[in-house]
Amino acid sequence: MEPVDKIEVKIGNIVEEKLDAIVNAANTSLLGGGGVDGAIHRAAGPKLLEECRLLNGCKTGEAKITKGYNLLSKYVIHTPGPVWKGGNNNEDNLLKACYKNCLYLADKKGIRSIAFPSISTGVYGFPIERACKIAVKTVLAFLYGNMDIEKVVFLCFNKRTYEIYRKLIDVKNIGNNK
Ligand code: AR6
Repeated sequence: MEPVDKIEVKIGNIVEEKLDAIVNAANTSLLGGGGVDGAIHRAAGPKLLEECRLLNGCKTGEAKITKGYNLLSKYVIHTPGPVWKGGNNNEDNLLKACYKNCLYLADKKGIRSIAFPSISTGVYGFPIERACKIAVKTVLAFLYGNMDIEKVVFLCFNKRTYEIYRKLIDVKNIGNNK
């Protein structure tokens, strides 16, 4: 299977995904917040926060894993994305590190299917098109070097995000008879 064929783009709510893991766009405290983080903690139940308290936070661009508790997915991989500060403060590299470190950790745990929200593009203000390009490029590069991960879902909360991902993936599919 071509790496690009392992990628799925979907509109929805990430807490409704039933996969090996979902990714949480967290903050460095790992103690919850708004947006997708709030939704994940609400759906997972209070035990998730209990486990998160034991992790001593997480640096921007890095990733830590917990169980999924009441979620349909078995694990949650938490990654704090960069706060957008205009683009000259290492934001691109840090966002790339988020995707890379989540996949690396997933693979180490034997995870085969994983969904990402659009990290940093809500409260943290990262421009959506730029973020989606980094996400697609980084995930594809990882999948080229990894045969074990079977499915990566870009879970979009709105149509605009969906369309941006769709376009990027369709371009990658050119020459692939699709
Ligand atoms: N499912 C999928 N995507 C979602 C959902 C959901 N249920 N809810 C929101 N999104 P954000 P950030 C999308 O703000 O920018 C938190 O307070 C949303 O439309 O959740 O990385 C944390 O604790 C957007 O495209 O995360 C941090 O303090 C994307 O998810 C801070 O926000 C990310 O938006 C992190 O900010």
